[in-house]
Amino acid sequence: MEFVEIGEILDGKHTGEKVAIRGWVYRERKQKTVSFFLIRDDSGIIQTAIKPDSKFWDEAQKLTIESSVKIWGIVKEDKRAPGGYEIQIEKLEIVGLAERFPITKDKSEEFLRDVRHLWIRSRRMTLIFKVRSAVFEAIHEFYKQKGYYEIQAPSFTGSACEGGSTLFEVKYFDKKAYLTQSWQLYAEAMIFSLQRIYTIAPSFRAEKSRTRRHLAEYWHHEMETAWMQFEELLKFEEEFIAFVAHYVAEKCEKELKELGRDVEELKKLKPPFKRMKYEEAIKKLGKEWGYDLTDADERKLVAEIGAPVFITHFPREMKAFYMRPDPKDKKVVLAADLLIPGVGETTGGSERIYDLKELEESLKLFKLDKKDYEWYLDLRRYGTIPHSGFGLGIERLVMWLSGAEHIMETIPFPRTITRLYP
Ligand code: 4AD
Repeated sequence: MEFVEIGEILDGKHTGEKVAIRGWVYRERKQKTVSFFLIRDDSGIIQTAIKPDSKFWDEAQKLTIESSVKIWGIVKEDKRAPGGYEIQIEKLEIVGLAERFPITKDKSEEFLRDVRHLWIRSRRMTLIFKVRSAVFEAIHEFYKQKGYYEIQAPSFTGSACEGGSTLFEVKYFDKKAYLTQSWQLYAEAMIFSLQRIYTIAPSFRAEKSRTRRHLAEYWHHEMETAWMQFEELLKFEEEFIAFVAHYVAEKCEKELKELGRDVEELKKLKPPFKRMKYEEAIKKLGKEWGYDLTDADERKLVAEIGAPVFITHFPREMKAFYMRPDPKDKKVVLAADLLIPGVGETTGGSERIYDLKELEESLKLFKLDKKDYEWYLDLRRYGTIPHSGFGLGIERLVMWLSGAEHIMETIPFPRTITRLYP
């Protein structure tokens, strides 16, 4: 007899039938006249019941939380059961009898992080990881439809992309190397070959601040496009975000509802998104030119609008060396951060400097060593073109889509300044 998914039973597909399921004991209630076991698999949680007259009664009494089991029985609709269905156990096989499970109700966040390898079995984690998986799927689908190529860059690099302060240094044979912060500089070389490219890869940032949206290792989606300029970039990003939101809302409607997420808000999301220049943003916050927006500022700005918003035209010195100064006002760059409700900055994108002289001056301005960037300057020496791209922190997007409070909820084994175990 084939095993069925618990979710299918909860969808009413096997009512009245004899089924076989396999999963883990989620809760148990052992009573004299009947024992109930909630069994979970990735698709759902179902109640099973056994009475003392069963020859499997004694075996069932041994069951502990998180024991793995196979169960055969008849599916009955039962309004009192969580999920509305119950399996009356006819046969039971214990596969792995669990020791006393360390996670009980009132455990601290810190303890749950210590037993992360077990905590990821929780229903909430399962639901969020399903949303995460759908995000990856949506990204690939979007780029397939647009005719983009997926391509990768090395994780070991010799120089900084996003500034020296968050670089992880590693020993590289007898040299010093860094873990990559971004695929971008290599992507700028690869567009001369493929023109329209994207990637999903880990990026590394030695973030010393402990916030609810920073990881030391995160999954970075980036795209780079030949001939694309700033205005087109913003349009592309809007279309992308709306596509992913709709895709995930559709694919994970059940999961999102169970997580308490307002799915309609995601389904309704439509470009164009609001835009605000940096200058206007700091005015709203009552700050001076040169003020760097904090996480809290960003969340405040986006909360007022209640939908994703681009902040654009940042002061040049505040941003990266490769960003193109606005030809109409060279003290600002053609860059945009997309702020998302509850999270703040989720994408960072820009048009890149494509003029050789301008790029050389920029390296000087940012006090970067030209010899580390010779290969990058070559890209402006041999058939340069305007181009643009953006990067998006997948975990931040998952936070917003799933309604997770903390970035650590969105990745199975988060790496932060204080966490390398498990
Ligand atoms: O704004 P960032 O630093 O931009 C870049 O790396 C560009 N090279 C991207 C590009 O144009 N190709 O990072 C992009 C995004 C941020 O908006 C944020 O969502 C995410 O990466 N991010 C982080 N996510 C989690 N933890 C961290 N420590 C992050 N740092 C950046």
